[in-house]
Amino acid sequence: LRRVAVRLGARSYTIRVAPGLLAAAGKELDTLRLGRRLFVVSDTNVHPLYGPTLERSLRAASFRVDRLVLPPGEGQKSLTTLRRILDALVDSGADRSTTIVALGGGVVGDLAGFAAATWHRGVPYVQVPTTLLAQVDSSVGGKTGINLPAGKNLVGAFHQPTAVLADPSTLATLPPREYRAGLGEVIKYGMIRDERFFASLERDADPIIRRDPDRLASIVTRCCRMKAEYVVRDELDRSGRRAHLNYGHTFGHAVETATRYRRYRHGEAVALGMVAASRVSADLGRLSETDRKRLLALLDRFGLPTSGVPSDPDQLLRLFARDKKTDEGRLRIVLTKGIGSASVSRSVPRRLLLRALREICAVPRRKSPTGGSR
Ligand SMILES: NC(=O)c1ccc[n+]([C@@H]2O[C@H](COP(=O)([O-])OP(=O)(O)OC[C@H]3O[C@@H](n4cnc5c(N)ncnc54)[C@H](O)[C@@H]3O)[C@@H](O)[C@H]2O)c1
Ligand SMILES: [Zn+2]
Repeated sequence: LRRVAVRLGARSYTIRVAPGLLAAAGKELDTLRLGRRLFVVSDTNVHPLYGPTLERSLRAASFRVDRLVLPPGEGQKSLTTLRRILDALVDSGADRSTTIVALGGGVVGDLAGFAAATWHRGVPYVQVPTTLLAQVDSSVGGKTGINLPAGKNLVGAFHQPTAVLADPSTLATLPPREYRAGLGEVIKYGMIRDERFFASLERDADPIIRRDPDRLASIVTRCCRMKAEYVVRDELDRSGRRAHLNYGHTFGHAVETATRYRRYRHGEAVALGMVAASRVSADLGRLSETDRKRLLALLDRFGLPTSGVPSDPDQLLRLFARDKKTDEGRLRIVLTKGIGSASVSRSVPRRLLLRALREICAVPRRKSPTGGSR
């Protein structure tokens, strides 16, 4: 069992990572000061696979377990589904001492976390993330919320979990595309913070692609440790110190908006965003062409897109103006000074932004008969 401590005073918690952890969840939660009543929120893809193991373990530790299983998908991050969860809590007789358990990806985590933030003005919740994105990113840091028709994550709350239980063996059943998208965020951590970690991804690409649970346990732990460092320094995302986590995201959001959130998974858009950000970094002389090629090669190895966005660079640039990461009208772009070190720039010339966008909109080069595309 690997542990990562998130030190936030009274809101501190521990992230636990281990293959097989689901079956030991009851024992782990028993060590925390929680009431005996748990309410599991999951979705119809995840619950049949992992719900029984989790709930058996919880009951064996003499917790009472109720549950609500929702349809899957981003569409569930709605007021309607929030209401469904709150009504189900009422029906089950839940009270202030009930703990909510989110079993699933970022959608279930954000929703159940927000329900926990609001039920009786806030009850504890435990994240049991089952996607790679949720294990390395969304389950840590306490951002919870739902979407409105006007936009993503417009309503929410900061509410830190009481524990995070990440079992990397659950990633075995993740659809390949979801797994690859998660790897986009994993590569991001290497780019902004840790050259050695980046090199280990290059070296261990094969076991990673095979989803080796032990290799994944160490990756998830390392990423959680990095995310926790940012969260501890800037819990409410106010001081700008969490900004490095947005590497590739300003460009990525423009790509997601331009393609109406339909063409790319978030992690794929981040991959494209990192390609653009690395172009700017290289053009400003902060990133060597060799290191930039390493990024592109690793994205390619993990099956992530690096070009071919079906959009127009000028249109993407216009979408930048609407990105919430602008401060006082100036666009903040996260760049890298070499692999493993990020910095924020407020003065990237428009010409360089366009050049970077042109690169990700270019038609991808055909894969050669021998395999690699580059
Ligand atoms: N709170 C945060 O800090 C934060 C950070 C990043 C992203 N997010 C949010 O996370 C959401 C995306 O999360 P996601 O990428 O995990 O998507 P998701 O929750 O929709 O899961 C992706 C798909 O995989 C299925 N699935 C999940 N685990 C599985 C498993 N082990 N085996 C088989 N299928 C499985 C799900 O049912 C779903 O169909 C977005 O709403 C985003 O806004 C939140
Ligand atoms: Zn992201």
